[in-house]
Amino acid sequence: MGSMEGFSPTTIPCLLLLFCLGCKCLASEFELTQTATVKVDATPELARKIPDTLFGVFFEEINHAGAGGIWAELVSNRGFEAGGPHTPSNIHPWSIVGDDSSIFVATDRSSCFSRNIVALRMEVLCNDCPAGGVGIYNPGFWGMNIEDGKTYNLVMYVKSPETADLTVSLTSPDGLQNLASINLKVAGTSNWTKLEQKLVAKGTNRTSRLQITTHNKGVIWFDQVSLMPADTYKGHGFRSDLISMLLDLKPRFFRFPGGCFVEGEWLRNAFRWRESIGPWEERPGHFGDVWHYWTDDGLGYYEYLQLSEDLGAAPIWVFNNGISHHDEVDTAIIAPFVKDVLDGLEFAKGSANSTWGSVRAAMGHPEPFPLKYVAIGNEDCGKKHYRGNYLKFYNAIRDAYPDIQMISNCDGSSRRLDHPADLFDFHVYTDSKTLFSMMNEFDSTSRDGPKAFVSEYAVWKRDAGKGSLLASLAEAAFLTGLERNSDIVQMASYAPLFVNTNDRRSVFMALCFRWFLVFLSI
Ligand SMILES: *[C@@H]1O[C@H](CO)[C@@H](O)[C@H](O)[C@H]1NC(C)=O
Ligand SMILES: *[C@@H]1O[C@H](CO)[C@@H](O)[C@H](O)[C@H]1NC(C)=O
Ligand SMILES: *[C@@H]1O[C@H](CO)[C@@H](O)[C@H](O)[C@H]1NC(C)=O
Repeated sequence: MGSMEGFSPTTIPCLLLLFCLGCKCLASEFELTQTATVKVDATPELARKIPDTLFGVFFEEINHAGAGGIWAELVSNRGFEAGGPHTPSNIHPWSIVGDDSSIFVATDRSSCFSRNIVALRMEVLCNDCPAGGVGIYNPGFWGMNIEDGKTYNLVMYVKSPETADLTVSLTSPDGLQNLASINLKVAGTSNWTKLEQKLVAKGTNRTSRLQITTHNKGVIWFDQVSLMPADTYKGHGFRSDLISMLLDLKPRFFRFPGGCFVEGEWLRNAFRWRESIGPWEERPGHFGDVWHYWTDDGLGYYEYLQLSEDLGAAPIWVFNNGISHHDEVDTAIIAPFVKDVLDGLEFAKGSANSTWGSVRAAMGHPEPFPLKYVAIGNEDCGKKHYRGNYLKFYNAIRDAYPDIQMISNCDGSSRRLDHPADLFDFHVYTDSKTLFSMMNEFDSTSRDGPKAFVSEYAVWKRDAGKGSLLASLAEAAFLTGLERNSDIVQMASYAPLFVNTNDRRSVFMALCFRWFLVFLSI
């Protein structure tokens, strides 16, 4: 779709339709006799060229939007790392088939992967085990959606000093209905072995589990147990059904991976691009302490860039600028964080011969990714070291990659920024009345400063519920204001994009919003 003059042909009719529906509801309830007049001023002088980039999507790893969401991995806590590095650790949501008189499982630090050293040691105690065997199972993220006729790729690492027979199966949540099953013989060796198998489902259950059972007394270790549907979008690991919905939105950009997810409550728990690339088995994973769940980071920096390409959307990487919700790196010692980001840009944009570009090439993408936008932090404008750190990142990136557009966290809609930027970030979460009235928000924004990126907007809390006409009307009204001001508003995206309803936060942005208020107040 090329750029258009004036109003989008779709928004106004939609708004009118919603408006009429709204009136009709009111009328039937209160028997109102009010009439409404809608005036459309279509004089050519008011027309604005709508930038090609105006509408895109913002993806944050929140509400299990990625792990247990668009990322197709079915096993939750596949590397047994989620309970932390100290053993014994909580292996949730893994559990045992059998009871503690027949089986003893505990984590230890004997993995063959040095960056995620925790593995599961399973000791079978029974000489005469129950008919179905004993072992372990994983229920995935609130159950695995196993579908009749579909193929699932199993990969797991095992170590067994004695030869052992294993049965790997997909079953109903109570273990009674068998949907797929294979038998494996594990050779007795002191080394870890990678096993790969396909399971074909002969039934459907949306809350299935993966079981690994045996009848053999002895000890077996497990690590990095993965089950993925064979059919993922372009074979890139994403759920095809959800990606097709994203494609229907025709997003022009893809902002990732957060949000507060980028910041962390504490820096030590923030998302790190470097820890999220390379072979999936070797990624350490991390606990996202803002949204309170573990990700094994199979969906990492490379996968986000790949998804942008698959969607035909411009990638927008939001990186951590040395600031979390509770701690900050002083500008005097921010240099290693700047270097880290420059390495990340080389990973995305460098030639296949460059240090980090070669890592990307080894992952299967020798061509650089067209990364042209980065956001220096998320909602950090009011923080003590933001200005200082921002300039360090800005200058280093400007020198190394003059083509990259940089996005500041500071709101330039009503006053000029005191630092250079190509775009400024604007976030709003509010009630429908306030958002409706914000349709004029950018009317008087300076036309010669940086462009606006409305990268997070939504009606929230009571007005939003699980989606309401009132909220969509307000959001549509706000969008007409963005289109009307699209000479200064270059991009806009709703938030959040996906919610796994098992992890829906009623005030899901509350934590972030606290900081948003800080940044509004300065
Ligand atoms: C899935 O399994 C549970 C029992 O564990 C059963 O109640 C449910 O009906 C099954 N669903 C289907 C679609 O068979
Ligand atoms: C175990 O792995 C080591 C190192 O890769 C190799 O030298 C050795 O031959 C392996 N042993 C067995 C029994 O496979
Ligand atoms: C990589 O380096 C080789 C040798 O230095 C050179 O011939 C080749 O053109 C380089 N390739 C790229 C993609 O820069």
